[in-house]
Amino acid sequence: MVFIAHLSDFHVGSLSFQEDYLLKSMDTINSMDPDVTIVTGDLTENGYYMEMEKAADYLEIIKSPIMVVPGNHDARHVGDQCFREIIRDRYGTLEIIDNLKIIGLDSSEPDLDYGKVGRAQQAWMEEQLKDASDNGMHKIIALHHHIIPVPRTGRERNVLSDAGDILYSILEKKADIVLSGHKHVAHAWMVEDTAFATAGTVSSLKLRGKDPASFNTVNIDEDYIEIVLNTVDGETNRLVKYENRCR
Ligand SMILES: [Fe+2]
Ligand SMILES: [Fe+2]
Repeated sequence: MVFIAHLSDFHVGSLSFQEDYLLKSMDTINSMDPDVTIVTGDLTENGYYMEMEKAADYLEIIKSPIMVVPGNHDARHVGDQCFREIIRDRYGTLEIIDNLKIIGLDSSEPDLDYGKVGRAQQAWMEEQLKDASDNGMHKIIALHHHIIPVPRTGRERNVLSDAGDILYSILEKKADIVLSGHKHVAHAWMVEDTAFATAGTVSSLKLRGKDPASFNTVNIDEDYIEIVLNTVDGETNRLVKYENRCR
C-alpha cells in the first residue's frame, strides 16, 4: 500500500564520510521505487554552506518525493540558516500519498548536540496529528533525535530534553510511526500502537563495532506495518512488524 525509504546521517564533510556507500544506497532505494523517502538529519558534519550544497546535490539523486529534517550537526555554524536556504524548511508536512501524512520536526538547537522540539512546534505537531486522524490518515513523524533511548549507545545524553512531553503527545494522538536517526544504531521500540524506529548512518564510518552502514524501509500494507534494516551491501533484517490499526 505504501513503501517508504528512511535514511539518515550522511555526515557529508566528515573524514568518515563514504560517498560510495551513499551512492550505492541511493541507487538501491531508487530501484526499490519508494512512494516517499525520509531523511532524518545530520546530512552534513559541520553545517557549513559548502557541505550543505553538496548534501543538496546528493538529495537530487533520489527520485521519489522526499521529506528532510535537520540534525544537530546541520545546526552547527549557523547551518540551520543554510539548511533553510539550500535544502528546505526545517519542519513541515508532506501529504503526497492518499491516507498518509508525514510530519517533519526540527529537533536541533544551534551549536548544541542535544535535541528539543519545543512547545510551539509540539502544539503544531498535535494539530497536524489531529487533522490526520480526523481524515483517517496514517501518521508518520520524522525528527533527528530519538525520543526513547537506543540500546548499545552507552550513557544517554542526547535524548530530547522535552522527550516526556513529546512522547505523551505522540501516544495520545496515536501516531503510527516515529522515525529518527542520530545515534547511528538501527532499532525499533513499540510503545502501545506506535513504532519508534531509528535508522543507522547510511554513509559514514561512525559505527559501533561491526555494525554496517544501513538505511531502513517501511512497508505499510492492509494488515501490517513492517520496518526493515537494509545494509549497504544488500542484507536485510526485520526490525519490527505489527498490526496496522489504521485501515
Ligand atoms: Fe549523526
Ligand atoms: Fe546527530
